[in-house]
Amino acid sequence: MKNKSLVSITDFSKDEIMRIVELASEFEANPNQKLLDSKVVATLFFEPSTRTRLSFETAITRLGGGIIGFSDSSSSSTTKGETLKDTIKMVSNYSDLIVMRHPLEGAARYASEQSSVPIINAGDGANQHPTQTLLDLYSIYKTQGTLDNLNIFMVGDLKYGRTVHSLLMAMSHFNTTFNFIAPDSLKMPDEYKLFLDSIGIKYYEHKEFTDIISEADILYMTRVQRERFSDPIEYEKVKNVYVLRNSMLNHTKDNLRILHPLPRVNEIHTDVDDNPKAYYFQQAENGVYARMAIIASILGLVK
Ligand code: CP
Repeated sequence: MKNKSLVSITDFSKDEIMRIVELASEFEANPNQKLLDSKVVATLFFEPSTRTRLSFETAITRLGGGIIGFSDSSSSSTTKGETLKDTIKMVSNYSDLIVMRHPLEGAARYASEQSSVPIINAGDGANQHPTQTLLDLYSIYKTQGTLDNLNIFMVGDLKYGRTVHSLLMAMSHFNTTFNFIAPDSLKMPDEYKLFLDSIGIKYYEHKEFTDIISEADILYMTRVQRERFSDPIEYEKVKNVYVLRNSMLNHTKDNLRILHPLPRVNEIHTDVDDNPKAYYFQQAENGVYARMAIIASILGLVK
């Protein structure tokens, strides 16, 4: 994977995914390895972020690298009309690697075609969020001891949720059974279901999850994303349709872990936070180790 951009999770093979999971574990055990000495990583965030940007910047700092970039494109020359192509050509002259989040689907692929250094997609619209997926896989592996043969429930915005799209593609390597719980307007898009059909992976669709989560190994909650709706009335109709409460976890499996890419709004009540099955804050911490592994792999600093 040396010098390879990470635009979609499908850019990495199953073996490459497993190597990132192993490396994340090694970086968690020994996080201060100065492998990036004299290397510069650019973080270009054209869309807001807390976890992705800060965990990338923590990962780069722990690896001993330098960081340039912006967290708000209104402070860049984009506001003067500079194109994404020109911005990427400039920044690739200044850095060894570019981490980019952009609101437009396909922007990361386009950037990778313009750049002389690898691009890591930190989220492109409703399309893909592959580094979130790699930290999700690391979290699933840590909590379940395996990635194979798990029953994963995905709840909430499965239409615009880039994290669930990337996770579905990655978990399809591991004989997962999927359960999709979403309102009609936010169902998993057909292209993903057709993909699962084509490789013989089982999935089930539901409108409610209260009575069925007793079967889950992983409950992957997602936020209904106001910023993806063009009509605010449509958002209001579905914004609180699923709320996970602690009392709903009484008859769930011991190994169940609740994941959420965060930020949450109302979909996980705060009374879940102290339940040992709640794993979303540790999941966000795992992002540092997974992103150290991704950066070190792409820059060819580890075998
Ligand atoms: N999970 C995630 O992408 O969070 P941020 O939007 O805060 O980066």
